[in-house]
Amino acid sequence: MKICMAGACGRMGRRILDIAAATDDVVPAGVFDLPQWAGTELTVGAETGQPRKLVVGVDRDAEVAKADVLIDFTHADAALQNARAAAALAKPAVVGTTGLNNEQVAELRALAKKIAIVYAPNMSVGVNLLFKLTGEVARVLGLDYNVEIVEIHHNQKKDSPSGTAKRLAECAAEALGLDYDKETRHGRIGDVGKRPRSEIGLHAVRGGDVVGEHTVSFIGQGERIELTHKAHSRDNFARGALLAARFALTAAPGLYDMQDVLGLR
Ligand SMILES: NC(=O)c1ccc[n+]([C@@H]2O[C@H](COP(=O)([O-])OP(=O)(O)OC[C@H]3O[C@@H](n4cnc5c(N)ncnc54)[C@H](O)[C@@H]3O)[C@@H](O)[C@H]2O)c1
Repeated sequence: MKICMAGACGRMGRRILDIAAATDDVVPAGVFDLPQWAGTELTVGAETGQPRKLVVGVDRDAEVAKADVLIDFTHADAALQNARAAAALAKPAVVGTTGLNNEQVAELRALAKKIAIVYAPNMSVGVNLLFKLTGEVARVLGLDYNVEIVEIHHNQKKDSPSGTAKRLAECAAEALGLDYDKETRHGRIGDVGKRPRSEIGLHAVRGGDVVGEHTVSFIGQGERIELTHKAHSRDNFARGALLAARFALTAAPGLYDMQDVLGLR
């Protein structure tokens, strides 16, 4: 599988290229970033003991044309421009970039009439399984078990709660037939009264260099179940992106997410 990496100089781009270079049947064929990085030499695959150099390309379309599939971890506006370029060249695309607004997602959906696009703001296999499990456990236990979600991230993170924690709350709300906007409660302070059965609590902890941890608790009378995911590094996102690229390569045109890639739907 020949990949083209958009955002090759970024944190995720570098890690995906490193893992791709260490994977037998994956070739980093195209690499590009913002124009000011064109010509930059990247050393990838150092962990294999056989590092190789890649040169960041000048022309996006030429880089996309070299590959079978585009992988984008850039910025919301850039992701749309890059997806348009992939569609024009009839290449499938993986969009890991977050922060797309509703219009941008609608445009991705329109482009996906022509090419397969996997769009997932969290590409971790473990987190996507946690989404599925959260819905299943909530469905079985029902409202007798109170749902509380705690997330922990490093002290540089700006948004709160994490997008993943919100998605976990949505999974629980969907399974319990609840309205997410009405029932979620972000932290508790003061005389908040008794906890309503239908409430879903979200709590954000910040500190140090924690990559990301999420725990969903289902708390009943005399027992509780806790589902926890802990990310040790960005590798889980990078490996998920390569799985998504393999899926996109053979998928019919359409807009997919990681639940499709992992067969969890
Ligand atoms: N889906 C997931 O699992 C997942 C995981 C981690 C990060 N992300 C998202 O991926 C994106 C990138 O994250 P990061 O940590 O690598 O950020 P980063 O800032 O380290 O890297 C982004 C790179 O994109 C480049 N870029 C910006 N505009 C571009 C353009 N028009 N064309 C080509 N390159 C361009 C930047 O120069 C930079 O090198 C963010 O939106 C982040 O939230 C998603």
